Amino acid sequence: MARRIEKLKRERDAVVLAHYYVPAETQALADYVGDSFYLARLAKTLECETIVICGVSFMAESVKLLNPSRRVLMPDPSADCPMAHMVSREDVDVVREKTDDLAVVAYVNTTAEIKSWSDVCVTSSNAVKVVRELPERNILFIPDANLGRYVAEQVPEKNVILNPGHCPIHDRIALAEVRLLKAEHPAAEVLAHPECGREVLAEADFIGSTKQIIDRIVESDAKEFIVLTVVGVAAEIERLTEGQGKRVIFPKTTPVCPDMDSITPEKLLSCLENLSGEVALPANSEQANAPLERMLELAAR
Ligand code: 13P
Ligand code: SF4
Repeated sequence: MARRIEKLKRERDAVVLAHYYVPAETQALADYVGDSFYLARLAKTLECETIVICGVSFMAESVKLLNPSRRVLMPDPSADCPMAHMVSREDVDVVREKTDDLAVVAYVNTTAEIKSWSDVCVTSSNAVKVVRELPERNILFIPDANLGRYVAEQVPEKNVILNPGHCPIHDRIALAEVRLLKAEHPAAEVLAHPECGREVLAEADFIGSTKQIIDRIVESDAKEFIVLTVVGVAAEIERLTEGQGKRVIFPKTTPVCPDMDSITPEKLLSCLENLSGEVALPANSEQANAPLERMLELAAR
């Protein structure tokens, strides 16, 4: 399968990008693996004819918005992030009407349509920096209340208005389970994605994006790590820490993102073979792209 995929990549002039949450076997077939911010930034620079994005639809839409002249394919176009829909136009308009000096900040985990209603996008790796850089004092943070609350705590000079969206996978990680793991592994470092709930984040030694969690484990002197994010990150951690005797522990109710997990090597092969799953340029593409470009600009300051 790997040989057939490599051959098709050459024939199609295709580059394959994968998020850390897709199955390890799919990550192994990709040219680049990374977090949402890395993939968005990278996508803008690619000059190949076709970009295949092994991830969920908001990621593929962002790639298409940032590099519209490329053919962008998804191995499974039905793979979607439920949180990417958890805010309505009305929710945004109500706050816009009654709040002066306001920026609407959309987590990149949103549909292109939701992005088009906002002023700037953020990812989990740059949200604190981007919000800090904004001139507005009032911030409507959509759709993730957990990441929004975390940003509000880090940037106390801003008045952050939250929206009740959440990631069903991270939000479900239970405090009791985290406390039990900490009791079982008292020397372990605890690392959490900011999509986890407030009480779980309070138990963490380190909070960051998937890539930041991976980097922290590579750099740390600790030998055991309790990792509070989707189990897909284990593949990259194992690859980068091979032979270092580091042990990664996930909650017993294993956090799996079913949509990310559905991106199998078989689907990647079929997508390259048939050039299927093409992502169309979303409606309002100029309005949806502007907040992404602004994110790239503010994050690079
Ligand atoms: P990262 O930006 O950390 O890659 O996270 C994306 C995501 O979907 C987290 O659930
Ligand atoms: Fe969406 Fe959560 Fe899956 Fe990330 S882990 S893609 S936020 S459902």
